[in-house]
Amino acid sequence: MIIQRQKEKCTHCMLCMRDCVYGVWREIDGEPEPVEPDLCNKCSHCIAVCPADAVIHTGLDPAQAVKIDRRNLDPALYRDIVLSRRSVRRYSDKPVPRELIEKIIDTARYSPTGSNEQNVGYNVITDRKLIAAKSATVFSFAERIFKKGIGQYIFNFLGSSGSRYMKLFNYARGERKTSGRDFIFYNAPVLILIHAPKKSRSAGENCTIAATNITNYAHTLGLGTCFIGLFTTALKFSGKLREGLNIPHDRHVYICLILGYPAYRFAKIVSRKPVSITWV
Ligand SMILES: Cc1cc2nc3c(=O)[nH]c(=O)nc-3n(C[C@H](O)[C@H](O)[C@H](O)COP(=O)(O)O)c2cc1C
Repeated sequence: MIIQRQKEKCTHCMLCMRDCVYGVWREIDGEPEPVEPDLCNKCSHCIAVCPADAVIHTGLDPAQAVKIDRRNLDPALYRDIVLSRRSVRRYSDKPVPRELIEKIIDTARYSPTGSNEQNVGYNVITDRKLIAAKSATVFSFAERIFKKGIGQYIFNFLGSSGSRYMKLFNYARGERKTSGRDFIFYNAPVLILIHAPKKSRSAGENCTIAATNITNYAHTLGLGTCFIGLFTTALKFSGKLREGLNIPHDRHVYICLILGYPAYRFAKIVSRKPVSITWV
């Protein structure tokens, strides 16, 4: 990997050196020089911060270094997006085009990752039969443990009211039988498993941040999403559940999301608890 400063373009603003967190760039006789290229983690800050396009970095794709137009950054719009996103649990049958899913995931590619590892992967399941089969497996497991009363005991143990979940489960079971309503994946047309290497320190955070960007961006495209933590937990405990999902053996699934066109829209922003901030 070669990192170079084009001397004829450089304005000696030193931003490459000041912004480099890994100490690749150092000041030598008043000039910024990439003296430790081996320390580079390819964050591309030196390229992005240089006002004169003076940095050459063979480990990065120059075509992706597109100029930022700050006039497009609208704080009110961003706040509206965050406040108006909702978990969607009723979907229309309209299929989501593959290119749109790729566009959404491509946006999540720009999410930050610990040490710039960029190690988040996605398994996108659009086979509705497979999604339904996974839901059936989770549901029949839940049915077995609730029948034996173990489910109630587990929820009590975890601090949630077991009887509340028992009631919910009975309702879900009835709905499943009468109308085919799926309380695991909500009959969504797309399931996205977001995974990262088991050995990565920031794996969970990396996947969660990517998922958050997916949910917000999908919302702007008129799509609905919902985190399915229930399935993420089930995947942790059941190797059988991973079958057919093509999850690499050295990676954990940290987030499961469903995606699809909502059957209807939310008209209002929800109410939230007051925020807890401690100023120190
Ligand atoms: C980590 C996580 C796991 C979740 N798991 C589920 C789930 O398994 N099933 C479900 O219906 N909703 C799930 N949700 C959605 C939450 O219930 C929802 O975000 C919350 O009630 C707030 O509603 P909102 O997303 O519409 O703002 C999950 C959300 C998060 C962040």
